[in-house]
Amino acid sequence: MISGLFAALAAVAVVAAGSTASLAASKSKPPQKLVNYLVINEDSIPEYLSGRPGDPKQGRKLVISRKKGNCLACHKMPIPEKADHGGTGTDLTGVADRMTESQLRLRLVDPKRIIPDTMMPAFYKIQGLNRVLPKFKGKAILTAQEIEDIIAYIVTLKE
Ligand code: HEC
Repeated sequence: MISGLFAALAAVAVVAAGSTASLAASKSKPPQKLVNYLVINEDSIPEYLSGRPGDPKQGRKLVISRKKGNCLACHKMPIPEKADHGGTGTDLTGVADRMTESQLRLRLVDPKRIIPDTMMPAFYKIQGLNRVLPKFKGKAILTAQEIEDIIAYIVTLKE
């Protein structure tokens, strides 16, 4: 009984040592690991990538930010304080009337799964991209939580 307890404690110590080592390794060179996600009906990702809902206020900032979503470069959105809205993509005013949250999530994560030759960038993808800027090599443009923040904002775009 007692020796069983010792064995269990020893096992815990080994696991802890192992995780410290991998933490140290990831500090020296952070290889980004994307969260696994499930695609259903070929057009939707039903679950939060980050495991929790996003913040719509943060999402509104991210869609404006040129270094993050930069969605206004291609889309019109109900963001009147910004003068320039591009017209390459669709007008996103009312997009949440046309698509579900799960469909919007796949659009952001990997739009080429739906429209193979779309101009829209995949915001949460590393492999299989064309023309990646050096600073984005090996790194997704947005984090899982940033995707959720943007989703939380665009689901409010109803007419
Ligand atoms: C380089 C241009 C570009 C950027 C940047 C871009 N998109 Fe798009 N997006 C498009 C195009 C073009 C389409 C239309 C699909 C197609 O025909 O390729 C589209 C389609 C969409 C759709 C589907 C809308 C519909 O009515 O079918 C959503 C939603 C969307 N984009 C959201 C976003 C969001 C949110 C961002 C910023 C995080 C973003 N896009 C950034 C070009 C872009």
